[in-house]
Amino acid sequence: MPRIDAASRWQAMPMSDTPSDDGPDYWVGKTILAPYLATPTRVVDRMLRLAGVAAFDTVYDLGCGDGRIVIAAARDFGARGVGVDVEPYRIEESRANALAAGVADRVRFERIDALQVDISPATVVALYLVDWSTPRVIARIAAMCRPGTRIVSHSFALSPWAPQASEEVVDEHGNVRRIHLWIVPERSEEAHGGA
Ligand SMILES: C[S@@+](CC[C@H](N)C(=O)[O-])C[C@H]1O[C@@H](n2cnc3c(N)ncnc32)[C@H](O)[C@@H]1O
Repeated sequence: MPRIDAASRWQAMPMSDTPSDDGPDYWVGKTILAPYLATPTRVVDRMLRLAGVAAFDTVYDLGCGDGRIVIAAARDFGARGVGVDVEPYRIEESRANALAAGVADRVRFERIDALQVDISPATVVALYLVDWSTPRVIARIAAMCRPGTRIVSHSFALSPWAPQASEEVVDEHGNVRRIHLWIVPERSEEAHGGA
């Protein structure tokens, strides 16, 4: 099957569908949660600060793109990190970026579906997805992660739960971005019953 470029792939593929056998091989069995868009670096920094990331944290980015959130968590806050993405090129790029940033020993990147990866070791989960996929991923985080795990999301609210904190950030291009924080509560019933 011929490879098609990223733009054509997005035009060809409904984002809410699990790709079928008609799609490129490497999408089969994966749910496409969002197209690739990078979080501006100033917003990355504010997300990590909103989540209170520190050296004892393990930061997961579900849909890590070029790895910038996990790499910044390791480089600037001394944390460990795991980034996952379905796009093979993003994983290669993330690993190269981690090497260039001198944090390859503190982070790892895996090509795996965010809806399949074991996220139970996370103390912080970063998200930059879309409105329909964010609640789906958060429901999984609430079920798998320990109470106290912080979830920080760029742009998309943590529906159906009200965020514990939200901030506006002016990025380096002058655009206003919103970021949100939610903390996995003590009891899973609370996670499913509303904040
Ligand atoms: C909007 S980008 C965010 C990139 C990065 N987190 C950032 O903030 O700069 C969303 C990323 O999610 C990835 N993605 C989409 N569906 C996914 C899935 N099911 N599992 C893992 N990654 C996925 C895309 O390939 C893309 O790199």
